[in-house]
Amino acid sequence: MCGIIAYTGFRRAAPILLDGLRMLEYRGYDSSGVYIAGDGVYRALGPVDNLVQKIPVDVQGTAGIGHTRWATHGQPSEQNAHPHHDQQGGLWVVHNGIIENYAELRAELVAEGHTFISETDTEVLAHLIGMRYEETGDLATGLVRALERVRGTYGIAVMADDLPDTILTARMGSPIAIGVKDGEYFVASDAAPLIRHTQQILYLEEGEYAVITSEGYDVFSFTHERQHRSPELLDLPLDVVEKGGHPHFMLKEIMEVPDVLENSARGRLLLKEGSAKLGGLEDQVPFLRTVDRVVIVGCGSAYYAGLVGKLLIEDLAGIPVTVELGSEYRHRPHRVVGTTALVVVSQSGETADSLACVREAKRMGVKTIGIVNVVGSSIARETDMGVYNHAGPELGVASTKAYVSQLEALMLFALFLGRLRGLSVAQGAGLVCELMRLPEKVRDILAHRDKIQHIAEEYLGYDDFLFIGRSYNFGTAYEGALKLKEVAYVHAEGYGAGEMKHGPIAMIDEIFPTVAIMPSDSMYEKMRSNVEEIRARKGRVLAIATEGNTEILALADDVLYIPDTKEALTPILATIPLQLFAYYTGVLRGFNVDRPRNLAKSVTVE
Ligand code: M6R
Repeated sequence: MCGIIAYTGFRRAAPILLDGLRMLEYRGYDSSGVYIAGDGVYRALGPVDNLVQKIPVDVQGTAGIGHTRWATHGQPSEQNAHPHHDQQGGLWVVHNGIIENYAELRAELVAEGHTFISETDTEVLAHLIGMRYEETGDLATGLVRALERVRGTYGIAVMADDLPDTILTARMGSPIAIGVKDGEYFVASDAAPLIRHTQQILYLEEGEYAVITSEGYDVFSFTHERQHRSPELLDLPLDVVEKGGHPHFMLKEIMEVPDVLENSARGRLLLKEGSAKLGGLEDQVPFLRTVDRVVIVGCGSAYYAGLVGKLLIEDLAGIPVTVELGSEYRHRPHRVVGTTALVVVSQSGETADSLACVREAKRMGVKTIGIVNVVGSSIARETDMGVYNHAGPELGVASTKAYVSQLEALMLFALFLGRLRGLSVAQGAGLVCELMRLPEKVRDILAHRDKIQHIAEEYLGYDDFLFIGRSYNFGTAYEGALKLKEVAYVHAEGYGAGEMKHGPIAMIDEIFPTVAIMPSDSMYEKMRSNVEEIRARKGRVLAIATEGNTEILALADDVLYIPDTKEALTPILATIPLQLFAYYTGVLRGFNVDRPRNLAKSVTVE
C-alpha cells in the first residue's frame, strides 16, 4: 500500500519520478506527489496523470522523491498527499506503512509548539526527523533517533533542502529496493519501476537505512554499523512491466498464464519419478516426512488458492490441512499439536496479516513454508523454506496470473510431499504429465475469449451473481465472485453448491443469475442437481463445463467450455474464463480494471 520512489543522479528527476510513480500506481492511487530538489513540491488528488499536469516542463532538479498514496490516516486529498515536511519546512518525507503511535507523538509535538497541516501519520514522522536533524546536525543520526520513537511499519525516503543531492531511505516492515547505475541511484517500494533504468538491485533488510548521493551509496544498520551489501542482477525482461499492446495489464496478465505455467514448472517436473523438484524444499525432506498437520494461511485470492491447496495436500500426501484467513489466524491463540507446518500463500510476500502469521508461527516453534511470487519479499525471506511461483511482476491490482501460479505451486508442493508419503510413481507421473499439457489447454481457452466477451455482454444487465462449485472448485467459486466484485463492482457471492439449499437459493429469481463451475469430475452429478434446482426457480445459469459435455447445453442457459483435465487441475482451467468474464464485465461497465477503486495490490497494513 502506497508506493515510494526516489532518484539522485545527473538526469532531470521529474520524468523519472513520474514514470516510476505510474509503475507503482497499483499500490495506491488516491493521490500522488513529488519533491524535487531546488524546485519544490507538487501534489495532486487522484491518479498520477493529474500530478503530471501540475509539474512545469522546466523543472530541472536532478534529485527528488515521490509517492503514490492509498489512504490510511486522513481521506484522499491534496493536503494529505505526500511528500510531507517538518516544522521548518525544509525536510521532506515519503512513507509507505503505518506509524501506530502517531497520535501520541503528534500530541507531544503539538505540546512543543508544532503545527500540522495534514491528518497523516507521515507528517508526524517528518516533524520528528526534522527536529532530530536540527538537534544533531547530521541527517542519518537524526533519522535513526527519530525512528527510535516510532512504532509501526515504514519504508521511507527523506530529503532535506540543504542536502540537495542526498537521499536517505530506511526500512522497517515495508520493502525498499535500491537500483544502482553509474552515477545514478534509485529507490522504490519494489523493483518494477527500476528495471527500465537498471537491473542491479539491492533490497534493504529490516532495520537498515541507506545514505545515497549521486556518487554512491552506503547501507547501515540502525546502530550505524556499515553493512557491506552489493546489488544483485535481477535479469527480468523489460516487457514484464509494459502492457505489450493490450489495453490493460489485467488482460495482458491473463494472456500470460500459459507462459507462467511453463515458467513455474520449468526444471521442476520429474516425469520418471512422478514428482516435483523443488530446490527450496530439498534440504527439508527429513522435516517434511514428519509433518502430520498443515495450516495454510492467506488473504483474498491467496486464501482461495489455499482452499484448493488443502484438497491437493490431503489427497496427494494424506496430511490433514486447515485453511485460515491470515487476518483471523494471527489473532487467535493456537495450541501446537504434533508436527505442524504453516504454509503461507502470498503473491506480494508483504501482506501484513500473512506476514504476522509467519512471525506468530515462528514464535511458537512452527516451521513456515512460503508460496510466494515476489522474490526477496518479507515473507519469502522470513519463512523457513518455500516455493517461488515464478509468475513475474503482476501490475494489475486483481490477482490473475499470480492466482493461477499459486495453484500450480501448491500442486507442485503437494506432489513433492505426496511422493515422500506414499503417493505412487504412477499417480505422480499422471499428474506431471497433465501439468505439462496445461499451458496448451489454457491457450485453447484464451483463443476463445471472444465468446467470453460476448457472454459478459449478455450478462451486463444483472447486478447480483451467485458463483457455485464443489470440492476442488469450491475455492474457484469464491475466486470467481471476488474477481467480479473487485474489477466490475458487481455484487457476487461465492458459495459451496451443497450449501445453496441452506439459504442462498432464496435469492434466486429471473434477475439473479448463477455461475456454476461444473467440470466433468466426481462432483458433476451433484452440481447438475444444483443447477436443476436453480433452473426450477427461474434462475439463469452460466455453466463452466468440460468440452464434450453436450447435455449441459439443455440444462444451462449458457456454457463456457474448458478442456478436459484431471480433477485436481480443473481449478487452474476453470479460473481462466471467470477472470476473463470479470475483466470484460468491468471494461464494459466503463471501469479501470487495473486500478479498482479503494483497492491496492499489496495490503501492508492490517
Ligand atoms: O499479495 P498477496 O497474495 O498476499 O495478496 C492477498 C490479497 O490481498 C489479494 O489476493 C487480493 O485479494 C487481490 N485483490 C485479489 O485479486
